Amino acid sequence: MARPYVLLSAAVSLDGFLDDTGPERLLLSGPEDFDRVDEVRAGSDAILIGAGTLRTDNPRLLVYSAERRAARLAAGLPEYPLKVTVSASGDLDPEARFWHTGGAKTVYTTDKGARRLSGLLPADVEVVALGPDVEWRAVLDHLGDVKGVRRLMVEGGGSVHTRLLQQGLADEVQLVVAPLFVGEPDAPRMFGHGAYPPGRMRLVETRAVGDVVLMRYVPTAPGAGRLASAADRRWLEVACELAAHCPPSETAFSVGAVVVAADGTELARGHSREGGDPVVHAEEAALAKLDPADPRLASATVYSSLEPCSRRASRPAPCARLIIEAGVRRVVTAWREPDTFVASADGNAVLTAAGVDVVLLPEYEDRAKAPNAHLLPPAARS
Ligand SMILES: NC(=O)c1ccc[n+]([C@@H]2O[C@H](COP(=O)([O-])OP(=O)(O)OC[C@H]3O[C@@H](n4cnc5c(N)ncnc54)[C@H](OP(=O)(O)O)[C@@H]3O)[C@@H](O)[C@H]2O)c1
Repeated sequence: MARPYVLLSAAVSLDGFLDDTGPERLLLSGPEDFDRVDEVRAGSDAILIGAGTLRTDNPRLLVYSAERRAARLAAGLPEYPLKVTVSASGDLDPEARFWHTGGAKTVYTTDKGARRLSGLLPADVEVVALGPDVEWRAVLDHLGDVKGVRRLMVEGGGSVHTRLLQQGLADEVQLVVAPLFVGEPDAPRMFGHGAYPPGRMRLVETRAVGDVVLMRYVPTAPGAGRLASAADRRWLEVACELAAHCPPSETAFSVGAVVVAADGTELARGHSREGGDPVVHAEEAALAKLDPADPRLASATVYSSLEPCSRRASRPAPCARLIIEAGVRRVVTAWREPDTFVASADGNAVLTAAGVDVVLLPEYEDRAKAPNAHLLPPAARS
């Protein structure tokens, strides 16, 4: 099972605040935007808030439209998405509306937090203790693997948004800017201090919704080392899409590759048999477009739908070697090379032995295989 798609959703004032310091929750969105949020909730498997928002806003986090709830039921889904909160301390009010409205609820907490909550919350609330700390990767893995959550909407607050974005775990940010000012230095901001992924996110949509503006961004900066980030998954999808556009062949795989700088800038892309060359490989085609002296290669990531080749008859250097010689130190791939053309090819081992970090994301294997199904025995096609 894969980790869920993580969508951060929030509204901010023109001066960048999530709320004011008053006792009541500041309403930043208008009716049209609340309805849009309701639609996004209805399209999610789970909605998560931090314990801070639970304590401050006491939200219900429901899907309010009866039609949307009926559509969920008709699609075989629970009437309401799973409600999730995260608390290290376990300092949660059992009377909060969160527990007494909607459908299923899960709390992720520490062992200590779980002891504090023992017997306190309504019996149908699942309390998941994750050890001495609550690691976000563990929360997302549990939501994906155990709870079957494919799409997670995160509705704040600032600390939760900050941590998920800083750790490269947010697949999308949906930010609404409301036409008003807060002007209080102690009011909460959407994003706090600290190290964020470098470079620029990619703007994928802007839309006026009543008197607010919705902006949707996706991350671009590759992860670091052997940990996969949300941007890694997006770039690997691009590589898989490129693979699907290769000229067909009965004697070679269809593969796509993208080379991405540490700040998320795409440096080059390529695919098998590109430009009429019947034997060129995807990584080879992409790297050939770059100046070997480009200083960005040393911190770049190569995304390839298929593990880079370790041996080949058609050219002197296999792709694993080309990557090492280009100075690239990180590769993300979806599919280990099967024995179809080369027995026991192990390009990942060649890369690893040369000190390259290799990240394998098998959840993309089926997409990488799809344009190659005719080359595989029936049992290996998916
Ligand atoms: N405008 C909007 O769209 C919007 C949306 C949501 C919230 N808000 C505002 O945001 C403010 C609340 O934000 P906030 O930053 O104070 O709180 P928050 O992000 O909602 O929650 C922070 C709390 O979550 C728990 N937590 C987060 N990450 C954790 C981790 N890795 N491990 C363990 N626990 C973790 C901790 O709970 P414990 O302290 O229990 O350990 C932490 O104190 C409120 O003013 C609210 O109105 C605005």
